[in-house]
Amino acid sequence: MARIGLLTGGGDCPGLNAVIRAAVRSGLAGEHTFVGFRYGWAGVLEDDAVELTLQSTGGILPRGGTILGTSRTNPYADGKDGTAVIRRTLEQRDVDVLIPIGGEDTLGVALRLHREGVPVVGVPKTIDNDLGGTDVTFGFQTAVQIVTDAIDRLHTTAESHNRVMVVEVMGRHAGWIATHAGIAGGADAILVPERPFDIEQVVAHLRRRHERGRSFSIVVVAEGATPREGTLQIREGTAKDAFGHERLGGIGVALEGEIERRTGFETRVTILGHVQRGGTPVAYDRVLATRFGVAAMDAAAGGRFGTMVGLKATEIVEVELEDALREPKLLDPALYTTAELFFG
Ligand code: F6P
Repeated sequence: MARIGLLTGGGDCPGLNAVIRAAVRSGLAGEHTFVGFRYGWAGVLEDDAVELTLQSTGGILPRGGTILGTSRTNPYADGKDGTAVIRRTLEQRDVDVLIPIGGEDTLGVALRLHREGVPVVGVPKTIDNDLGGTDVTFGFQTAVQIVTDAIDRLHTTAESHNRVMVVEVMGRHAGWIATHAGIAGGADAILVPERPFDIEQVVAHLRRRHERGRSFSIVVVAEGATPREGTLQIREGTAKDAFGHERLGGIGVALEGEIERRTGFETRVTILGHVQRGGTPVAYDRVLATRFGVAAMDAAAGGRFGTMVGLKATEIVEVELEDALREPKLLDPALYTTAELFFG
């Protein structure tokens, strides 16, 4: 019988509550008990926590966001050594194992804690789907569905006005959302972080489409896409989070202006932003999150610390956190080639 600590860190993501519910429900069957730290690492640093029970985790499966709250608090920001504080909180609350649910930053902290002797088991989370060690992260399919629905709607208005529609979507390091939703929605161009773009080539492609009688185009751009060096000046973002990541967003606006100026085609941008992370998870994400929650509880109870649960093909696996975090999982080039076939 162990006492398990749970926390959700980084950007929220549809399916977080499903993981919490699954870990608690499966753990209670083994007579384990649970404490949930609020607002990510902030909750452990400040000892802000709630008891997680059958009652408090009931009815949360379809709910978006996270009942625990989240933040991008970094226990090691500005040279601070958060490990000692975290260790003290865990001891005071008799926590035997901590299960952080998060992306590269939250799990990066988990890895450091593991190296310093704190028992942790990680659960991967990001709508961007760019974490190593797992084929898919929960939240991704929900985001893809939201973007696909938006592209479907933009198609009819683009067609009515003979416009180019630029759709900016999330994806900091990788173009998974842009490419999946672009394929599903029939995008005419997809710009992703993995392939710096040349604005002249994008514009030439749109001109060719119009010459062939297409009166409108849909361009999907991931927020992390960048122009090939020296081809287009983009305003640099200034705000940074506690992990040093720049606040993205704005590439779509730059493209809107450039495409209209260079082609003369009327162009509009839609920035989908946090809509992609909000609301109820689709069924696929609820199932994956549930499987991750149960697997993380198993790993915690079995003492397999320093691991992260993941999905490989159709199987749930445990991988070393160290291996999972070595590098981001970038877009499969073959998938992009498939998308390109339909740029027409
Ligand atoms: O990490 C997921 C993500 O949604 C990224 O795609 C995006 O850049 C970032 O979070 C946005 O973070 P915030 O919620 O802090 O604006």
